[in-house]
Amino acid sequence: MSLLHVVGEAGPVLRSDRVLLRPPVLADHAAWATLREESRLFLQPWEPIWPADDLTRSAFKRRVKLYQRAAREDLGYAFFLFGATGDHPLLGGITLSNVRRGVIQSCSLGYWMGERHAGRGYMAEAVQAVIAHVFDDLKLHRLEAASIPHNVRSIHLLEAAGFRREGFARSYLLIDGRWQDHILFALLSDDPRPAYRRATADVASARPIPA
Ligand SMILES: CC(C)(COP(=O)(O)OP(=O)(O)OC[C@H]1O[C@@H](n2cnc3c(N)ncnc32)[C@H](O)[C@@H]1OP(=O)(O)O)[C@@H](O)C(=O)NCCC(=O)NCCS
Repeated sequence: MSLLHVVGEAGPVLRSDRVLLRPPVLADHAAWATLREESRLFLQPWEPIWPADDLTRSAFKRRVKLYQRAAREDLGYAFFLFGATGDHPLLGGITLSNVRRGVIQSCSLGYWMGERHAGRGYMAEAVQAVIAHVFDDLKLHRLEAASIPHNVRSIHLLEAAGFRREGFARSYLLIDGRWQDHILFALLSDDPRPAYRRATADVASARPIPA
């Protein structure tokens, strides 16, 4: 897998062979709302309850503004995941949240796929690109993730990417309306990671350009 990082108008753009990741912009609303709506039953068991207005344009506008503010303040970085070829269909999303600097230098990874694009390896490739961004560009030390114990797809994805199990948190997150136990995973900057071929690494800047 080759990997290219550049900074676009809205922030960092991460590319690898089959996927392109960039920060969400307002113009993504229609594609995002369509993909989320058709994937509702697939996603809802693994996510917080969607507010009633979640898919509306005004809620999406608020969401994008929050993402942009978080990125400006180095608190979090959201990416939408697109196919790298053709008409670049929206496939899903990845969020880096809760960036903490100081003596911890960590953040948390979250992700989702549109149902019809899942299980084809796009997310595995995207997670590798984001891991490289977290450690090589954002210069963090630790990337955390958590999964409900029976989320086989998510656990497989994390372990294949090199994450290690670190613990078990009781009633950790309010998912699908219930406080649910989670397995805690982490990847450290110097942990072994599955190899990827980084053919081109052109990192113009680690920080996104504020919109
Ligand atoms: C979790 C999720 C993002 C993973 O995306 P994906 O498109 O399924 O992942 P990929 O196709 O890149 O597959 C990653 C790995 O999981 C494996 N996998 C895919 N579907 C699987 C399944 N149904 N059961 C077991 N493993 C599966 C793939 O084979 C691949 O492993 P490999 O690299 O050894 O072949 C996606 O399934 C999803 O959105 N699920 C619902 C929401 C969710 O669970 N969010 C995460 C909450 S922690």
